Amino acid sequence: MCGIVGYTGKQSAQDVLLAGLKHMEYRGYDSAGIALVANDELVTYKKAGKLNNLQQVLANENVPLSNCGIGHTRWATHGAPNDLNAHPHLDEANKIAIIHNGIIENFAQLRTELTANGVKLQSETDTEVVAHLLAAELKNSELDLVAAMRLVCRRLSGAFTLVAISAANPNLIVGARRNSPLVVGLGDGENFLASDVSAFIAYTKNALELGQDQVVEITRDSVKVTDFSGNEVAPKPFTVTWDAAAAEKGGFELFMLKEIADQPKAISDTLLGRINDSQIQLTELAELKSALISAEHILILACGTALHAGLIAKYAFETWTQIPTSVEFASEFRYRDPVIAANTLCIVISQSGETMDTLMALRHAKAGGAKVVAVCNTQVATIARESDAVLYTHAGPEIAVASTKAFLTQIVALYLIGWQIATLKGHKSGSETAQFVTELSALPAAVDLVLDTVEDVRNLARELAEKQSVLFIGRGVGYGVALEGALKLKELAYMHAEGFPAGELKHGPIALVEDQLLIIVIVPSPTQQQILHEKIISNIQEVRARGGLILAIAVEDDHIIDEFANFVVRVPHLNALLQPIASVIPLQVFACEMATARGHDVDQPRNLAKSVTVE
Ligand code: M6R
Repeated sequence: MCGIVGYTGKQSAQDVLLAGLKHMEYRGYDSAGIALVANDELVTYKKAGKLNNLQQVLANENVPLSNCGIGHTRWATHGAPNDLNAHPHLDEANKIAIIHNGIIENFAQLRTELTANGVKLQSETDTEVVAHLLAAELKNSELDLVAAMRLVCRRLSGAFTLVAISAANPNLIVGARRNSPLVVGLGDGENFLASDVSAFIAYTKNALELGQDQVVEITRDSVKVTDFSGNEVAPKPFTVTWDAAAAEKGGFELFMLKEIADQPKAISDTLLGRINDSQIQLTELAELKSALISAEHILILACGTALHAGLIAKYAFETWTQIPTSVEFASEFRYRDPVIAANTLCIVISQSGETMDTLMALRHAKAGGAKVVAVCNTQVATIARESDAVLYTHAGPEIAVASTKAFLTQIVALYLIGWQIATLKGHKSGSETAQFVTELSALPAAVDLVLDTVEDVRNLARELAEKQSVLFIGRGVGYGVALEGALKLKELAYMHAEGFPAGELKHGPIALVEDQLLIIVIVPSPTQQQILHEKIISNIQEVRARGGLILAIAVEDDHIIDEFANFVVRVPHLNALLQPIASVIPLQVFACEMATARGHDVDQPRNLAKSVTVE
């Protein structure tokens, strides 16, 4: 939530910052702004709305040349998304500029203190207090910006990444982090700070990971990291594996369409190096071997789409490992009194690896004695770092706010973990594993086949674009797919959409069914899941008897369904537990096209941000 970038070097800071913000706009797009150090002064430009608005402002200004500056794209928390509340924020003398991601929870108290001292705050944000607090510390001539930042951070509670520049130090940028992400990009005669690597991968793949409660100072030739007390610490270097081109649209109209098309490769990349000689080898979990063997409970914690991946994996985990598995909203977990039994293996799932709800739930589970495995897509994210082990999904950067390729790769990664546990517990033989590996390896080709039907699904969505409400039903793993289809439609097309287990309809939701209401049904395979198939046909009949319109997502050889559905979208027939990998794709495309047909911004839907770093 909120994207941050800082640059000091030899290039035009304005150009580097705007390019970086373009790649981080998915983190928030309520406003954008930059501050530059030029001729020993700070110049600031900011504008409500998407980055384009700021770019238009800049095009009409005589922006001074600068090689050092900071940029921000905002997801509003405190204060409306207007020009005044846009970052950067300045102190009263316009000598310090600050940008922030997170929430400063004690800002009201700090604001009162500043006001009592005669400071006139300009915005409604929690961030602005930091600019004034830094200025107050810097009145003490013994202190520099870095020392002032340490002192101020010690007074703040909540989650924050802060990045500051000052007119007095034309080549210096100071950053600090607690519970919010910040990484350093190391260039040649230039250095970067950013919320994530996508802001600088076009310039460098060499990066540094910052720990909790650390302050970093960068100039074009140096990087120094200290803790909030001033003790120097050695940051951990890493090489960015993402390719700069992967963060571009690559000829597609939308990031979401590109990311849907990326899915076969994302799955292959997630399997790569984890299958050897027809066996699954997860070296990442080697150190947790005894915890996996002794696991008696599996607890999956996640939010949104990642939670749906967990709900689907639960069926596989229980079938393969015989270990009771529960799936919980991370946002609820620590606010009740969860019983974390002995030998609980907790699996947290997060594309960004920064979702605050998931991070807090992880910490709670860990404090309760659980061993934690993370399934993450973003390198060195906080959730990955704080877990006992991490299995990365190699989906590459996911820029569209609606998650697609991350979802499929999360299911794949979870299945690898589930199968590994089942094998360690002696439930799976070598030949069963070889068969499963064959099925996994066939997934990219199966997904390719589904992608061949994209145009048909887009046409169908256009045909149905006037609908106001859609219900999704499924059984077994199809229930998770139904929830995911409904979430996609809500977040992109802003429509009423709800997912239910098909058998639950008759317990209440069927009252919603009226003439021409669209119900999307995830139909289980008639051969592999005959009983479920029969049951869902009955559920379809109940709906049709009340005038409902059925769109079935059915396997290619299901000829029974034709008689019962108004529309049928075919997907390849896979192993029943793997079926969601194919069935969800038409729903991604459907939601994307519905949103387009209704004139919405698919990649940046209203009110949302990709990485939700507040609770
Ligand atoms: O980065 P995470 O996977 O932790 O994000 C969790 C949810 O915020 C995310 O999946 C969200 O639901 C997506 N926008 C849905 O498309």
